[in-house]
Amino acid sequence: MSIEELESIAQAMVAPGKGIIAIDESTATIKKRFDSVNVPNTEENRRAYREMLLTAPRLGEHISGAILYDETIRQATKAGVPFTKIMLDAGILPGIKVDIGAKPLAGFPGELVTEGLDGLRERLAEYAKLGAKFAKWRAVITIGEDTPSGTCIEANSHALARYAALCQEAGIVPMVEPEVLMDGDHDIDVCYEVTEATLRSLFGALYEQNVLLEGTILKASMVVSGKDCADQADVDSVAEATVRCLKSAVPATLPGIVFLSGGQTDEQATAHLNAMNQMGPHPWPLSFSYGRAMQTAALQLWGKDMQANFKAAQDMVVLRAKQNGLAALGQWKK
Ligand code: 13P
Repeated sequence: MSIEELESIAQAMVAPGKGIIAIDESTATIKKRFDSVNVPNTEENRRAYREMLLTAPRLGEHISGAILYDETIRQATKAGVPFTKIMLDAGILPGIKVDIGAKPLAGFPGELVTEGLDGLRERLAEYAKLGAKFAKWRAVITIGEDTPSGTCIEANSHALARYAALCQEAGIVPMVEPEVLMDGDHDIDVCYEVTEATLRSLFGALYEQNVLLEGTILKASMVVSGKDCADQADVDSVAEATVRCLKSAVPATLPGIVFLSGGQTDEQATAHLNAMNQMGPHPWPLSFSYGRAMQTAALQLWGKDMQANFKAAQDMVVLRAKQNGLAALGQWKK
């Protein structure tokens, strides 16, 4: 795989008006989502649910890629067509989550470090054979009274950079995701400081590990007030702080930035992205890589009646893709 190919995949991921759907929930995380709609967490239900999402008609109009889980990238429709083939036919790039989760960081109570580097070269080679064009690794930064520590930020940045270098060696575009959690009662200024320090550390580590930024996508969390903060910043304040933070820490050579939704409501996630794009032009396309903010409404319909609501659930995920696609252009209207 040439440098040009990595660059063109990265650019396709953030093509105008398009974004990414994250359906890479681990078996433990999808259980939480299924529990919320009383669906048993069986392999067949996980397969059927992902089939409903991936076969939604014209999903590819606003979706450039979908992030899959290890189990999902090996699955097929009921009729036996591999999900990766369904996606390629729809113009949706297959992506794969390759970290194995955020684990407690020894010596730093309340902080997490993401694991999954051991054997990653071999796993990436297999995922490339299975059709993966990009990958995801999520680091978690927790804001608390004494956190995050510099050690936690650095350990996670180092792992993200090692992962990114291995991805590029395998011809896979790395999506690097340092998520600053919304949990806590901190205000938006604290979130800004932590996000800026995290991004600066990450881009320093990517440089140290010889990662080609032109073939890398950042998956960022927005700069928001903590969930329990009494003073909730409004849409324009979130958009302004997020763009200012990104401009101060993210090199302009990066081909694109996508956001996670992180527990925001569907409407907040769309409104924030739209407001940021209305403030453009920016050095990079700003788009979405939402999990919950793309799926929640569709899951609720499907969970109520998998057969009767199949089409309504598909229409719902396509509607969310369209709304977020418009927000990626700054053209969404409430
Ligand atoms: P949310 O949009 O639900 O935060 O999920 C995105 C994601 O992939 C987190 O890694």
